[in-house]
Amino acid sequence: MPPVGDPSDLPTCLLCVCLTGSVYCEEVDPDMTSVPALPKETNYLYARYNKIKKITAKDFGDIVECSSVYFHSSTVVTLKRIDFTGNIISEIEDGAFSKLTMLEELSLAENQLVKLPILPAKLVSFNANHNKLRTKGIKANAFKKLNKLAHLYLAHNELEAVPFIPETVRTLHLQNNNISSLTVDTFCKSNDTYYIRPNMNEIRIDGNPVNLGQYPNSFICLQSLPIGRYQ
Ligand SMILES: *[C@@H]1O[C@H](CO)[C@@H](O)[C@H](O)[C@H]1NC(C)=O
Ligand SMILES: *[C@@H]1O[C@H](CO)[C@@H](O)[C@H](O)[C@H]1NC(C)=O
Repeated sequence: MPPVGDPSDLPTCLLCVCLTGSVYCEEVDPDMTSVPALPKETNYLYARYNKIKKITAKDFGDIVECSSVYFHSSTVVTLKRIDFTGNIISEIEDGAFSKLTMLEELSLAENQLVKLPILPAKLVSFNANHNKLRTKGIKANAFKKLNKLAHLYLAHNELEAVPFIPETVRTLHLQNNNISSLTVDTFCKSNDTYYIRPNMNEIRIDGNPVNLGQYPNSFICLQSLPIGRYQ
């Protein structure tokens, strides 16, 4: 039985630093290998540089049978930012983040992911730099329904194509992947030569095999050229 009472009695808050609304579990010793149970009304979880391997559907799920401080549903709705940078996460169950309806920032940078789970709809910033993501590990509609997404970081992976990018995106980092070609529809619309893509003001595609100079029609709708190789 987990202890009941003041959240500062939680084991998590013995290993980690819990301040109002924030839980800091960085480089926890002994090794933290799974997502910690969170106190009620956690807004920010920083769990960088640990040994977390896997994120399961129940880590951020509703656990309703328990009336103690481990009652997760009240945590889940309050989480706004989660940072798992620098763990060894290689697997995330598909529904793992589905209850995180308020989540705005998620970092999974510097992990071992080859594919992405379903992402929460209100994300503003998503960072999966420095993983092992393959194009076949990112579903065609992975970002399509994220209609607040402004910052998308997918640099230093093994992507072979640019995924579908919603119009809300301002910053797109795809440097150091294995992208070898683009199409007109990657950023623009082949059936609408008057289309101007709103918002997008920083695209990095440097460090990929693609020669951007071969795809002038792919950028006519952009307000600034992507950073990359032009010859
Ligand atoms: C990059 O893509 C090419 C095919 O376009 C493939 O042959 C090669 O193995 C890929 N390299 C890496 C590091 O995945
Ligand atoms: C271009 O195609 C899209 C999707 O097929 C469609 O929704 C849009 O109305 C078309 N635009 C023009 C200018 O034909």
